[in-house]
Amino acid sequence: MKKIPHRLYLTEEQMPKQWYNLRADMKELPDPMLNPATFQPVSEEDLYPIFCKQLAHQEMDGTTRYIDIPEEIQDFYKMYRPSPLIRAFNLEKALGTPAKIYYKFEGNNTSGSHKLNSAIAQAYYAKEQGLTSLTTETGAGQWGTALAEACSYYNLPLTVYMVKCSYEQKPFRKAIIETFDGHIVASPSSTTNAGRKILEKDPNTTGSLGCAISEAVEKAVTTEGCRYVLGSVLNQVLLHQSIIGLESKTAMEMLDEYPDIVIGCAGGGSNLGGLIAPFMQDKLTGKASPRIIAVEPASCPSLTRGRYAYDFCDTGRVTPLARMYTLGCGFIPSANHAGGLRYHGMSPILSKLYHDGYMEAVSVEQTKVFEAATLFAKQETILPAPESSHAIRAAIDEALKCKETGEAKTILFGLTGTGYFDMNAYSSYLNGTMTDTVPTDEELEKAFGELPKIPGIQ
Ligand SMILES: Cc1ncc(COP(=O)(O)O)c(C=O)c1O
Repeated sequence: MKKIPHRLYLTEEQMPKQWYNLRADMKELPDPMLNPATFQPVSEEDLYPIFCKQLAHQEMDGTTRYIDIPEEIQDFYKMYRPSPLIRAFNLEKALGTPAKIYYKFEGNNTSGSHKLNSAIAQAYYAKEQGLTSLTTETGAGQWGTALAEACSYYNLPLTVYMVKCSYEQKPFRKAIIETFDGHIVASPSSTTNAGRKILEKDPNTTGSLGCAISEAVEKAVTTEGCRYVLGSVLNQVLLHQSIIGLESKTAMEMLDEYPDIVIGCAGGGSNLGGLIAPFMQDKLTGKASPRIIAVEPASCPSLTRGRYAYDFCDTGRVTPLARMYTLGCGFIPSANHAGGLRYHGMSPILSKLYHDGYMEAVSVEQTKVFEAATLFAKQETILPAPESSHAIRAAIDEALKCKETGEAKTILFGLTGTGYFDMNAYSSYLNGTMTDTVPTDEELEKAFGELPKIPGIQ
């Protein structure tokens, strides 16, 4: 029996030098993105006005299995990676479970999350192309912070549209984004047509990732030398995040371990897609059959209660149409405390894998999530982000099932980030004012009714 350390760090030399493109091993690829005006598949060139060229190429590349990580990005990664694979010995003990619980901790950088893995790649390719500024949206603020860090490293001006309810819940996000020279705007705002339209309809809206995306895309296409970058959902982002899974798999191999269950929270799907990538490869190629579980908030249940349909990626209906599990781009989830999980859609790659039966999904209510978060914090000394705590909840539930059955399953989950900017959320849990809001079937039906009508398709 190998002695299992509490924390396993790979060496710099053991870090992956290539990202893994999950699409190359999928039996069927996700359906193509469609141009919303013509309903024809979008080409790589069609994406150039929105995305920088290399990223548009990665977005459309469904066949290259491994893609070299440019050396500059590898060097940047080394400032905060490899991230540790941690064995949750104390949590296991507290639960009294025979399960072996591992987690990959991505919160050990200033952005506080896995988002920096893709932010630095996107800023690098933008700089390489000679672009002069970038725009983006952010929900919880981690992505905006990560991109501000990456842009300041490359001296690229950045405008961040932050979902209004998160902007108000987390004033220090503004300060940190500004520390890295980012310009931050609460969304919806009156600075764009998309924002003004949304505000006209509902002046008191708390905003959503979908609204913020509309504003950022509009800014990109109306500003010379500016492009839009996105921290989740897209194929290119899942590609960059594959570093999480590749490192995890190498570390587990060193311990002679292999997960029976892999669990990740799912907002737009980037951490989950990255964590599961090499394990899903094993599943797709018949080498192993781990259970893979996506965990989403009950207030924004795109996989568990959504439709698999073509939809806009944003509320303002300006982006291409993607086929994905969606609650309808007009759906505005209740203002819960996991801003990074308040997105109406889901990565088309993960949506396809879920649709084809390769993964499962569960939804959890936020009070149950914070119960898990506080238990985890006390046992493992890491204060988890509310988003990450969705995965903790599901990992604990699986470990408790093992306690009942006596099975010593190996569970791996993604601990995507820290929750230091989410203390309002922790306070509301601790003082008993936190509530759970779950959309009714009628509310969901109303949003489904607004899905785009595409002749011959839907
Ligand atoms: C800490 C953290 N975890 C998870 C997510 C969810 O995003 P994704 O589904 O793209 O991993 C976010 C998004 O902001 C986040 O900040």
